[in-house]
Amino acid sequence: MPAAPYRAIGILDSGVGGLTVFQELTRQLPHEKIIYFGDTARMPYGPRSDEEVRRFALQIIDFLQNQEVKMVVVACNTATAVGLPCYRERCHMPVLGVIEPGVRAALEYTKSGQIGVIGTAGTIRSSAYEKALQAVQPDLQIIARPCPLFVLLVENDLVETPEAEKVAIEYLAPFKEAAIDTLILGCTHYPLMADLIQKTVGTEVKLVNSAEEIARDVKAILTEQQLHNPLPCSDPGYRFFVSGNPHSFEEIAAKMLHRRIKAYQVIL
Ligand code: DGL
Repeated sequence: MPAAPYRAIGILDSGVGGLTVFQELTRQLPHEKIIYFGDTARMPYGPRSDEEVRRFALQIIDFLQNQEVKMVVVACNTATAVGLPCYRERCHMPVLGVIEPGVRAALEYTKSGQIGVIGTAGTIRSSAYEKALQAVQPDLQIIARPCPLFVLLVENDLVETPEAEKVAIEYLAPFKEAAIDTLILGCTHYPLMADLIQKTVGTEVKLVNSAEEIARDVKAILTEQQLHNPLPCSDPGYRFFVSGNPHSFEEIAAKMLHRRIKAYQVIL
């Protein structure tokens, strides 16, 4: 088995959305190898029960551990929201979720103490963001809403359509009324429609992108635990596994990453 610094970072997501985290990691940590698992056959996780999402995430974590990764990044907000402590229990390595970094960034940005959170039904139902925010600052005014159609708009390449605009106006109206100054994009897919969200809530609202924030945390942990890969990484250092059709994943990934990748199907 290679020494820990030479091993890959594992990314877990329900599908393609976690590629926003992959992209940020490659940008901030170009030396690192990455193994990505997208559970495309069972996505979306958003409407599933907590127990089901935890079970799926643990199966992926076992797969990533068998691939000898040095760290697991749970890119999926829903999976993070419903089970991070239980994944940490299962692993003998650092396991990072997207909620803590997003919360920390929101607390840094907010001046008014009025924070909005958007996510899948599962993430919002868990109240994970509210609990984490209020654990640090109990007097915050938080408004959290599920935006389930956003995932479908991104998946079906419909973000730049009048329908998407209508959906955004409807979902985001409560945030305009509440006069928030910070909005957490609590879902892997939402950074991919950040322009529309920003236009709808107004430019004075700061959008928190969990993908950017978690990449900073990964960097910090690698430094703290002396796990940085000392060798430069080239493209073969990235491997992609999916539970569904690899070709459709490759198509969407090519659009998102602006280059072609190869994905392999794994039945868990
Ligand atoms: N990855 C999910 C999340 O960040 C969004 C897609 C899904 O529902 O599976 O919550």
